Amino acid sequence: MRVLLVGLMIGLISGALLGAMGYRTVRQWYLHPEAVMTLLQTNLAGLKGQQEAGQCVGQPLALRLFRLEAVSSEIVDAFLAPGAEDERFADLARKLEATVARLRMNPPTDCAGLERARAEIGQACKACHDLYRG
Ligand code: HEC
Repeated sequence: MRVLLVGLMIGLISGALLGAMGYRTVRQWYLHPEAVMTLLQTNLAGLKGQQEAGQCVGQPLALRLFRLEAVSSEIVDAFLAPGAEDERFADLARKLEATVARLRMNPPTDCAGLERARAEIGQACKACHDLYRG
């Protein structure tokens, strides 16, 4: 009888622990996509702010582009649970990353250039949102 009770206790405790771990993992998956999109949005808005302030070249611009590129590279991991694959989605994420990478290596030299760069990035965001954002 005692053995049974001890066994039951161990079962209950480990069940609770595993459940809590699982909950945390799922919650992280759930939060990660929003976190990534928020960072993209923040940095794209940052570019707009710089343009409005007339700061269309230089270090702050490079930093925004660098961050946009880094976060773009994380979209697929954030959205697809391990094991899932969606080539079209991954392709659209890569397109955004490639667009930003090209702009980072060849940055705008004036405000008209920054305006074009923002439009190009916005297009790459929209291409995916049109298909995948509910
Ligand atoms: C490869 C696909 C893809 C690309 C590229 C992409 N997004 Fe998204 N984005 C999504 C999806 C899918 C959602 C909807 C997520 C949801 O509802 O859970 C979303 C949602 C969002 C949201 C709303 C987030 C929220 O809190 O619900 C914002 C803001 C956003 N994206 C900004 C951007 C910006 C800015 C870019 C470009 C710099 C971008 N996205 C590029 C797929 C993409």
